[in-house]
Amino acid sequence: MTTAKTQTMPKLRSSWPGGQLRAQLHLLTGFIAGFVCAFMLLLYIYDVHNGINCWPTSSSSSSRSYAFASTLRIAQQTSRDSAPSARVLCMVLTCPDYVERYAQHVHATWGQRCSKLVFVSSQHYEPLGVVQVVESNGGGYEDLWNKTREGFRHVWLEYGEQYDWFLKADDDTYVIMENLRHMLSAYDPNMPVYFGYQMRRYNVSYMSGGASYVLSREALRRFMTQAYDSGKICPEPKKMGIEDFYMGICLQNVGVHLIDSARALSEEDKPKFFPLDLESYLHNFNASIPDWLREMSVSQIATGNDCCSNYSIAFHYTKPERMYLYEFMLYHLRVFSRKYEERLPARILFAEILEMFPIENNAEIRDLTQMPEKPDYF
Ligand SMILES: *[C@@H]1O[C@H](CO)[C@@H](O)[C@H](O)[C@H]1NC(C)=O
Ligand SMILES: *[C@@H]1O[C@H](CO)[C@@H](O)[C@H](O)[C@H]1NC(C)=O
Ligand SMILES: *[C@@H]1O[C@H](CO)[C@@H](O)[C@H](O)[C@H]1NC(C)=O
Ligand SMILES: *[C@@H]1O[C@H](CO)[C@@H](O)[C@H](O)[C@H]1NC(C)=O
Repeated sequence: MTTAKTQTMPKLRSSWPGGQLRAQLHLLTGFIAGFVCAFMLLLYIYDVHNGINCWPTSSSSSSRSYAFASTLRIAQQTSRDSAPSARVLCMVLTCPDYVERYAQHVHATWGQRCSKLVFVSSQHYEPLGVVQVVESNGGGYEDLWNKTREGFRHVWLEYGEQYDWFLKADDDTYVIMENLRHMLSAYDPNMPVYFGYQMRRYNVSYMSGGASYVLSREALRRFMTQAYDSGKICPEPKKMGIEDFYMGICLQNVGVHLIDSARALSEEDKPKFFPLDLESYLHNFNASIPDWLREMSVSQIATGNDCCSNYSIAFHYTKPERMYLYEFMLYHLRVFSRKYEERLPARILFAEILEMFPIENNAEIRDLTQMPEKPDYF
């Protein structure tokens, strides 16, 4: 190409007047640029089209994802020096009886560190800005799945584009927001991922609801645009719907990768979200870890100081008085002359996610009625 061009140039210059030559060259450059643009546009349309119309299966999502990973690599070069500052919306589920007993104390403690704190319930409560997302008679424990679905719907419609990550917690969960942002800083919110404490039942993996879990913006987008309305791939709201288990089914059916917090950072391998209170892990006798948890946990449960990541994020069953204790120990108390060395975690690329956290072969749960062993209350 280049040689052909340089060879024809002198000839053009000798026979044609300069102005015309410049016009010709402009035309040529314009033509080439136009062609390149059109080609890129075509590639883009092809990719977007692919993304919207195909259910992610392991083969199609992997070929798309490698291209995706390389664009991410560029985006990731920016803003790595500052402290993690991801925009995290916290959606805390509560109910009328617990607003003053629990939610109020979340509001007074860790909730303040969310980029946005939204309580969802079956009844408005002005002082905390609690939003009613289900009928007043639809807020009991047996309606938890509906409340969760409607809560996410509210959050998506009101704030979908404004935040990067969406945390779902209960009003008795305590969250260390700085450590959540630390973990999330290794990831891009445009990846279809969700994090938490991984459990497994009926061959379905999911994140414990009480330990809290976090959806990327892309995961929430897929949940709302692809799963929410489809009874075929995402269980419809029913009494006794098991919120966290159903969420696991819905998200995997729309190609969202489960990332067990214990494996979320390459620097260490301890869990960061906990379905029990912290004390249950800290003493060294096994009786404090119930059998159901051992059976359902994907990773080994350790007790004592080995139990938990130094960057632990969330603890369930935290009584209000305990929340204030944690606040004091974490944010006020100083141990004289103690210093930490701090470093941001290494970035995880989407190609690595595909390799380390493949989507389960969930063909069997694509149609829930076809599950070999139906979960209770389905
Ligand atoms: C779920 O909540 C929505 C919103 O309140 C309501 O319209 C719907 O009937 C509820 N579904 C069930 C099964 O309770
Ligand atoms: C706790 O249980 C684990 C696995 O069941 C066992 O290996 C360990 O020895 C037990 N520890 C104590 C202190 O009983
Ligand atoms: C966690 O903290 C303890 C106490 O500072 C330290 O001894 C240990 O090395 C840390 N673990 C990791 C994985 O950094
Ligand atoms: C779970 O998976 C195992 C191994 O693939 C299989 O033998 C078993 O039948 C499955 N159980 C259910 C309930 O799907």
